[in-house]
Amino acid sequence: MNVLVIGSSGAIGNAIARQMYKAFPQATVYAVSRKATETDGGQANFKSIQLDTTDEQAVAGWLAECKQQDMQFHHVVCTTGILHDGEVQPEKRLEDITPEALQHYFAINTVLPMLWVKHLVGLFPSEHSTLTVLSARVGSIEDNGLGGWYGYRASKAALNMLVKTAAVEYKRRAKHTSLICYHPGTVDSQLSEPFQRNVKPEKLFTPEFTAQQLVAIIQQRKVDHSPYFLDWDNKPIPW
Ligand SMILES: NC(=O)c1ccc[n+]([C@@H]2O[C@H](COP(=O)([O-])OP(=O)(O)OC[C@H]3O[C@@H](n4cnc5c(N)ncnc54)[C@H](OP(=O)(O)O)[C@@H]3O)[C@@H](O)[C@H]2O)c1
Repeated sequence: MNVLVIGSSGAIGNAIARQMYKAFPQATVYAVSRKATETDGGQANFKSIQLDTTDEQAVAGWLAECKQQDMQFHHVVCTTGILHDGEVQPEKRLEDITPEALQHYFAINTVLPMLWVKHLVGLFPSEHSTLTVLSARVGSIEDNGLGGWYGYRASKAALNMLVKTAAVEYKRRAKHTSLICYHPGTVDSQLSEPFQRNVKPEKLFTPEFTAQQLVAIIQQRKVDHSPYFLDWDNKPIPW
């Protein structure tokens, strides 16, 4: 049994890789990142794979190698995403929107995960499996009362739409695989750090907590109701 975590140097990605390792001790956990991922002690069934997760050729090439070796993945989680970095800050008002920032949000939050969804379709077993992308509640079109954060919201909403669209095709081509868009809650990481001031302490989760919640959630899924848009409490979020 194999598990794949993409973006494993991030706070949530790293915690999910470790939690997968605990929950499925018989599995090999492939932790993919642009950087080498630290583990608790060099376990043989924890494999750190360093590749440019944004580069379609690199992604397709590595997955083709996996396929050649008859590898399949029972659980896949793509955790990559940005809210702010050297290039973007979440927009507060219309005047803050720039084409460059929108493109950057979409490149990392939308296009990157979909490259993996695309190239993974032939790599799932003929028993129940899951493919999760880290989405966000603010990507819900229906639930958008606050506004702002144009690029982040829109890139997560687009990711949800692409996953929902892929689920139609997965039903034919990977029919045992549940697709999940997961909202982890507000989690203590460098991504949320500038926005934690108004978050009540009990609502600021550790990466370990949300990783445990996700791993419990994927174990309960049934493919009949795929795709899912769920929060950390296993509650559905309106698309
Ligand atoms: N923290 C929260 O409160 C919160 C709330 C809702 C949703 N989320 C979502 O949860 C996911 C993980 O967030 P986090 O809090 O763990 O953030 P984080 O610690 O900043 O991790 C960010 C992840 O995104 C990847 N990444 C960042 N910039 C990238 C770039 N330019 N190119 C390719 N990959 C890039 C990193 O992958 P590498 O391993 O390759 O470096 C890393 O795995 C994100 O999708 C985020 O939108 C988080």
